[in-house]
Amino acid sequence: RKKNLILAFESSCDETSVAVIENGEKILSNVIATQINSHKRFGGVVPEVASRHHIEQVTICIDEALEEANVKPSDLTAVAVTYGPGLVGALLVGVAAAKAFAYANNLPLVPVNHMAGHIYAARFVKPIVFPAMALLVSGGHTELVYMPYENEFQIIGETRDDAAGEAYDKIGRVLGMTYPAGKDIDELAHKGKDSFHFPRAMMHEDNFDFSFSGLKSAFINTVHHADQINETLDRADLAASFQQSVVDVIVEKTLWACEQFSIKQLILAGGVAANHGLRDTLSAKLNEKYPDLDFVKAPLELCGDNAAMIGAAGYVAMKHHVFADASLNAEPSLEF
Ligand code: KG4
Ligand code: ZN
Repeated sequence: RKKNLILAFESSCDETSVAVIENGEKILSNVIATQINSHKRFGGVVPEVASRHHIEQVTICIDEALEEANVKPSDLTAVAVTYGPGLVGALLVGVAAAKAFAYANNLPLVPVNHMAGHIYAARFVKPIVFPAMALLVSGGHTELVYMPYENEFQIIGETRDDAAGEAYDKIGRVLGMTYPAGKDIDELAHKGKDSFHFPRAMMHEDNFDFSFSGLKSAFINTVHHADQINETLDRADLAASFQQSVVDVIVEKTLWACEQFSIKQLILAGGVAANHGLRDTLSAKLNEKYPDLDFVKAPLELCGDNAAMIGAAGYVAMKHHVFADASLNAEPSLEF
C-alpha cells in the first residue's frame, strides 16, 4: 500500500514550520524556524515583523523538510496548512506558500485549525480514543474541548479574559523576564513555595470556564505595592504562588469535566502543556481520582507551535474529506 505523505505548514504566530508526516502518525521531518529573538526586545510578538520573517523562512523550511525526510514533491499525497486562528499576516504567508506548492505539484490542499493541530500533537504518543476531552492551554487560548468522535470538536469551556500563557507572559514582564516567560517562571516556581495565596477565580463554579486576569492583577498589585514600600519579595515564591494558582484552577476544572463527561481519554496540549507543574499535578490527581482514564500529554517538544501537529490533524481532516481550493483564506478568529 502506498504511504500517505503530508507536507504540513504552520505560520500562525512566531514560528515558521514545515513538516513531512507519514500516515498521520510518524514524523519524517519537522523543521521549525523560531523568531523569538526578533520579538524579545519588544516584549511580545510584533505582527509585521512576524510576517516578514515567515516570508524569508518558508521556502527554506520547505526545502529542509523535504530533504530531511528524503521525500520528493512527487512522493507526497497532500499539503496541509494552518489557516487560523492566529495573526492574519503571519497565517497568510503559510496559506499562500501551501497553496502555491499544492498547485505547482498538483496536490490536494487540506485546511487545518491551529487548535486542532495542538490536540493532534498527542497523536505522536498514541492513537486518540473517543470520546475524548482535550485541555488546550496556549498563549492565545485556554479551553476544554470535548471530542465525541473523530474530527468533531466542541468547546465546553474557555477563558473569559486572558489565556493562561498570556498571563504567564504578562507577569513575566513584571518580573523583568524576556518574552515568552512561561518556561522561566515554571523553572523559578520549582525553587519557591505558595506563600502568597493568590486568588483562584471561578475554581468552584459550576461551569468549565476560566479567568486569569484577576490573578494577573493580584500578582502585579502585590509586586507594585512591595516596590512602593521598598520591600523585596522572594521571586521564587512569587512564581510558585502564581503557578500554583493557575495549576489549581486548571486541574480542578479539568477533573470536573472528566466527571461530567464520560470520556475514554484526556489530552493535555498547547504551549502551556509544557509546564511541569501542570503536567505533574494533573497526572497525580488523575491517577488518584480516575486511574482508568487514559491520560495523554503532548510530547514536550511538540507542545509549542510546529508543523508536525498540523500534519497529524491534516491527515484526519483528509480522511473526513475536508479539502480547500485556491480560494482558501487566512481566518484569524477561526473557531472549531
Ligand atoms: O501554543 P503556543 O506555542 O503558541 C500559541 O498558540 O499561543 O504557546 C505559547 C505560550 C506562551 O505564552 C509561553 O509563555 C507558554 O506557552 N509556555 C509556558 C511554558 N512553556 C511555554 N507556560 C508555562 N509553562 C511553561 N513551561
Ligand atoms: Zn499554538
